[in-house]
Amino acid sequence: MSTTTTAPSVGAGGVGPPVAPKTDKVLSLYHLLDPEVLANPYPLYHRLRTEDPVHWDPFLHAWVVTRYADVIKVLHHFSADRTPTPEQLSAMGLAAMNPIAEVMVRQMLFLDPPNHTRLRALASAAFTVRRVERLRSHIQEIMDGLLDRVASNGRMDLIADFASPAPAIVTAELLGVPVADHQQLKEWSADFAEMLGNFQHNPDRFPRILRSVENMCSYFRSAMQEQRLNPRDGLVSAMMAANVDGAKLTEDEIIANLIVTMVGGQETTTNLIGNGMLTLLRNPEVMERLRADASLIPAAVEELLRYESPSQHTARLAPDDVEMGGRHIRKRQAVIAVMGAANRDPERFPEPDRLDIDRKDNRHVAFGWAAHFCFGAHLARLEGQIAFATVLRRLPSLALDTATPLRWRDNLGLRGLTALPVLFDQCQRAVNDGSKRES
Ligand code: HEM
Repeated sequence: MSTTTTAPSVGAGGVGPPVAPKTDKVLSLYHLLDPEVLANPYPLYHRLRTEDPVHWDPFLHAWVVTRYADVIKVLHHFSADRTPTPEQLSAMGLAAMNPIAEVMVRQMLFLDPPNHTRLRALASAAFTVRRVERLRSHIQEIMDGLLDRVASNGRMDLIADFASPAPAIVTAELLGVPVADHQQLKEWSADFAEMLGNFQHNPDRFPRILRSVENMCSYFRSAMQEQRLNPRDGLVSAMMAANVDGAKLTEDEIIANLIVTMVGGQETTTNLIGNGMLTLLRNPEVMERLRADASLIPAAVEELLRYESPSQHTARLAPDDVEMGGRHIRKRQAVIAVMGAANRDPERFPEPDRLDIDRKDNRHVAFGWAAHFCFGAHLARLEGQIAFATVLRRLPSLALDTATPLRWRDNLGLRGLTALPVLFDQCQRAVNDGSKRES
């Protein structure tokens, strides 16, 4: 989950700009608003990495770092505490945004130690690897069920029919709320993710985003009330019960972090599956290898995360005056770390623009790095592995439907497709319940 948001609509925060070098406009991340650049941002990233790896972006009023080594330094050492407080927003005449800020200032994504450490420890006590493992068979059933629905059609939109609903249903299961609510949760998440992922804020969308945040808060508040009386297996109850050395989460902290966990798990995982399937359809020899040998899929998921990272960038503030790449970054200036560029850095990954599922040393930064390393990485990996294995096994003749041109979502931080139309002339039945699912 990327978060370019720092000080909404008054520029990416921090103190005033230094003297700008000559090439800045050409290298601005604003070019991602151009659909052609958005469809393939890697040439822009390559220019940034080679011509100005620590680049002052005059449009974003932020530094942009694209080299692997620098991205790691920023994610490891720079401050994640970049959300304006309600008091600061009111002072800027933006009090209308306070309900959103009230939630964000409690979310682990926007906190520094010691508060981040306390909160993450408590949330991790609830979100264990064992809890995720328990979801494995459910995830398989959910994904088989979604393919059953389209099995006889011979075509599908891999995003709308599979990659989008699957993580939404899994997330509802994980939270321990009614699965029937997954569509609503998905819509609220998309609104919140839109705000997190974009540096261009669309004021017309603000009322809707505000409503979604308020609705999510009251949804989880009533879920907590209900589960206080009737606890359920899931994160809502587990976060309420979480206790580390006598410390517990407050109700507002639980709500804020249920929201960031829910949002964190939706679009990103949809993009992993969608971007990954498109990449495999464009590399049919690799797709055939995976079809022939499913044991290669875990390594393939890591390579697809590196090659087409679902989360392209995130933001931090400089903790002090810092020298980086020959540039002087001043304390509290905003810095955008572009994981999508770092994952294609030839200084770190040989032949970075080649998809190589045999790549041994693949410590990509698609899940971030250090204290804020993705909280749901183990679940995302599991969903990705099951999704690719299931689609490749059950749709042996899968092909891209080239009739409709592909379009990338205009969320600049979360890289994904609006649709992925595919064709197939037969759908194998699911492994675990063949008789009922004959296509
Ligand atoms: C392929 C799927 C995913 C990708 C690419 C991804 C990527 C990321 C990245 C890059 C970060 C770090 C952001 C930063 O440092 O500013 C992050 C943090 C986070 N992710 Fe994920 N994520 C994915 C799936 C998930 C899932 C499934 C969940 C939950 C169910 C989740 C929940 C979170 C949370 C709560 C954080 C904040 C952690 C913290 O600040 O301590 N993510 N994710």
